[in-house]
Amino acid sequence: MTAITTTFDWDRAYRVGDHHQYWELSAPSPDLVGFLASAPVAEGAAALDLGCGSGWDTVALARAGYRATGVDISPEAIQLAKARAEAEGLEITLLTGDVRRLELPDEEFDLLVDRGCFHHLGPEDRDRYVAEATRLLRPGGLLYLRGSRQESFPFKAVDEPAIARHFPAGEFTAGPLLPFQLHTDVLKLDANAVLLRRTP
Ligand SMILES: C[S@@+](CC[C@H](N)C(=O)[O-])C[C@H]1O[C@@H](n2cnc3c(N)ncnc32)[C@H](O)[C@@H]1O
Repeated sequence: MTAITTTFDWDRAYRVGDHHQYWELSAPSPDLVGFLASAPVAEGAAALDLGCGSGWDTVALARAGYRATGVDISPEAIQLAKARAEAEGLEITLLTGDVRRLELPDEEFDLLVDRGCFHHLGPEDRDRYVAEATRLLRPGGLLYLRGSRQESFPFKAVDEPAIARHFPAGEFTAGPLLPFQLHTDVLKLDANAVLLRRTP
């Protein structure tokens, strides 16, 4: 596999605490909580947080009733997420791994969520990400994706052309791309959210 197209040193950021200066929101994402509160979770349903960071959104998935898994390329992030899950008394599977190739079973998940991982990936890595998302989702399963509205370093846009290019119509149905502000502890990012359904 080729080197990942982002050059960010994620592990260092989590080790020295820089995530607090950029992307950390010290709470579950409000938009995700709204999404989760709007739909009942079927018995035994499973959800995966792609690029879970310190695990706030993974915790929200578990609280909503999913069998929750979080995966991140940074072992430091996974340590933080494990500490959070333990402090909350929640059973969550937390794995160090690369969203471009995950050692998880086919069609294991009903829901994938991503806040800020896909928007760091270049085109080739996005293709691998989408191939994995397609493999991991049950037919009819959902990917709730949020990322930067604009192409502006270090972000690659999550916009109409990117959705059309990486989530082909035969394999996914895309809902509307909805602009919103993605808040972190210290920043506000103009973002888009989109719900993608794997074709049943
Ligand atoms: C902007 S942070 C967002 C973290 C978390 N979702 C949140 O909202 O706080 C992006 C995350 O994606 C992770 N990441 C980047 N490339 C990845 C990859 N190829 N596989 C898995 N995780 C990756 C980083 O380690 C980082 O935790």
